[in-house]
Amino acid sequence: MDPRSEVLLRQAQLFDGELLLAGLPADDLLGALPQAQGWIWHAGVHARLNARFPLRSHFDTQMPSGDYRAAVLFLPKSRELADYLMQALASRLSGKPLYLVGEKRGGIERAAKQLAAYGKTRKLDNARHCQLWCVDVAQAPTQPDLDALAQHYTLPLADAELEIVTLPGVFAHGRLDRGSALLLEHLEDLPAGHLLDFGCGAGVLGAALKRRYPNSRVTLLDVDAFALQSSRLTLARNGLEADVIAGSGIESAPEGLSAIVSNPPFHQGVHTDYQASENLLTQATKHLIKGGELRLVANSFLKYPPLIERHLGPCRTRAEADGFRIYSARR
Ligand SMILES: C[S@@+](CC[C@H](N)C(=O)[O-])C[C@H]1O[C@@H](n2cnc3c(N)ncnc32)[C@H](O)[C@@H]1O
Repeated sequence: MDPRSEVLLRQAQLFDGELLLAGLPADDLLGALPQAQGWIWHAGVHARLNARFPLRSHFDTQMPSGDYRAAVLFLPKSRELADYLMQALASRLSGKPLYLVGEKRGGIERAAKQLAAYGKTRKLDNARHCQLWCVDVAQAPTQPDLDALAQHYTLPLADAELEIVTLPGVFAHGRLDRGSALLLEHLEDLPAGHLLDFGCGAGVLGAALKRRYPNSRVTLLDVDAFALQSSRLTLARNGLEADVIAGSGIESAPEGLSAIVSNPPFHQGVHTDYQASENLLTQATKHLIKGGELRLVANSFLKYPPLIERHLGPCRTRAEADGFRIYSARR
């Protein structure tokens, strides 16, 4: 059981009615709280919960419909995302309690101050390096308009400008990551066919690919519902059409790809997690046609080439700058 869930279960008497658990982990909590529903924006957590607790987990950027007597927010890493989620939950909890749980090193004390926007806060528990806070929503705020919280920036690409739309919580919110910037300079000569932007975030690479290879089918895949919505907004803003799909890991990608382009993930929550990136390197071959290419950007210190060579083929460094490298390998 996740320590945050353990803290909730120490206070289980508070959570016996219709309850919404927002951003919960993939553990047994839904089993222990049979009246609870989950609101999830991580496709991997959603898939695991849905398999064990059918119809009780909702994958969305919007709060699921329903009449809840209370809600618990599992604190996300991004402060802007926490703001959006707190407002979305509070808007439907007039006169009812909104709980907040999180790890101390995840910034729960700071987040409790954000919660104070909705009423007087109380700390209910402090255990397992986590804290549980509560506010009785005195006056419900208006429902937040997610798309209005987007930040926009313009990329002056060689072919034309591209406008990028990022939502709260999405990687490199409101700015271009240096690794992605380097990869954008090295998108030439990709094999024609079906292209994948793996871990698409706000859709920077996927949109640039579609702009550059208009006759190729382009798919953008991410694990995060807010990233997928950002990608849709980015594509629409630039008049581009591509497939946007939710999935956890390269396993969720289509087969028959001519190229996989990626700035792969390297953080998850407060814990570093390279699993999705390692799987990309070891499993890409199953998703590429013969002659298909994996092209990615990574921090120079990450030892990716030996893994790529073992599972895909000879790995070439196409460029190096600012502590990042562009790797390329063909099946
Ligand atoms: C380093 S960011 C790159 C985002 C975007 N491509 C860019 O260049 O700005 C990595 C992305 O991978 C996504 N991600 C993390 N774990 C994933 C997984 N298991 N499957 C698919 N995407 C994942 C994250 O949500 C994040 O958007």
